[in-house]
Amino acid sequence: MTPILVVDDLHKHFPVRNVWGVRTGWARALDGVSLQVAPGEVLAVVGESGCGKSTLGKTIAGIHSATSGRVEFDGHRIDGLSPSTGRRMRRALQYCYQDPGASLDPHWKIGSSLLEPLVVHEDMTAAERRKRVDEVLRAVGLPEAHLGLYPHEISGGQQRRVGLARILALRPSLVILDEPTSGLDVSVQANVLGLLADLRSRFDLTYLFISHDLSVVRLFSRRIAVMYLGRVVELGPTRGVFETPRHPYTRSLLAAVPMIGGRRVTETMSLDGEPPSLIAVPSGCRFRTRCAWAADICAREDPALRTMADGCQVACHFADRPVAPAQDQVARGEDH
Ligand SMILES: Nc1ncnc2c1ncn2[C@@H]1O[C@H](COP(=O)(O)OP(=O)(O)OP(=O)(O)O)[C@@H](O)[C@H]1O
Ligand SMILES: [Mg+2]
Repeated sequence: MTPILVVDDLHKHFPVRNVWGVRTGWARALDGVSLQVAPGEVLAVVGESGCGKSTLGKTIAGIHSATSGRVEFDGHRIDGLSPSTGRRMRRALQYCYQDPGASLDPHWKIGSSLLEPLVVHEDMTAAERRKRVDEVLRAVGLPEAHLGLYPHEISGGQQRRVGLARILALRPSLVILDEPTSGLDVSVQANVLGLLADLRSRFDLTYLFISHDLSVVRLFSRRIAVMYLGRVVELGPTRGVFETPRHPYTRSLLAAVPMIGGRRVTETMSLDGEPPSLIAVPSGCRFRTRCAWAADICAREDPALRTMADGCQVACHFADRPVAPAQDQVARGEDH
């Protein structure tokens, strides 16, 4: 199937400046990310805080301009366009902010926030705009009375719904959801996930689902891309990656995921300390400084993302190492 989104060797380097404003280096927030998304699928992007997930979403959406690399949406190249052409080409590709409260103007009532993208993007009459807003408000399950409220007068869960309504009003085909359930309590999380699943089938949406919550990702996504220090290190079907994670980083991440009935047991691989700085990425394999398998070759050669026999892609010199299938229930009860 022709992908709806193609990301090829995408880089985004932010300048790092000292107190006098002099540039002292670059933070390689995205350092050669490649992935594809098929129409209708949910591709999850996971990884530790600071590994570049939001930067990936924002660079694809044109909120950040790419340092280098290629982004194609619906068969058209969308990186490096002028702001007005970029806005037009990306109307059907929308980014939903990690912090919905911050993305809504505190001085605008919800109604104005919902109308604004339609004024900017669409050639519609006032009556048509009003009708579209009513429609998306209903779709996300918010009462009409909310149109007259300010962002601080509604809850975090309701702010997420407003954020989604703003995007849906533009009739997107691909939505980048940045941590759509973080900061919400478990019952509200379940409501938001239910709403996202419902909207996806109702509006034929494709999702790039950014999250650090692996339990949510496991339920919600078909494929998963694991990021480490600005790079994708493992990419494959969610089920396969959870059952037989190959990259030592993925193994460590998954070993820490609590599961119903106990902690999942893959191997005793723990992830110690903080990841290295994006300003000084280690030579060779960027994970080697925290990797239990690190050998000489890892300091010398940067492993490329290789496609394995089952179609999973892994960036590790030792990706062929036999994988003991994960046994979710082995440690039943031990962690309680
Ligand atoms: N506008 C910016 N200017 C400079 N550096 C930035 C900017 N945005 C992000 N960064 C840096 O890029 C790196 C990646 O940040 P990003 O927000 O993409 O991480 P993340 O994976 O989304 O983390 P989290 O899980 O905490 O949301 C961080 O080191 C961050 O400081
Ligand atoms: Mg983020």
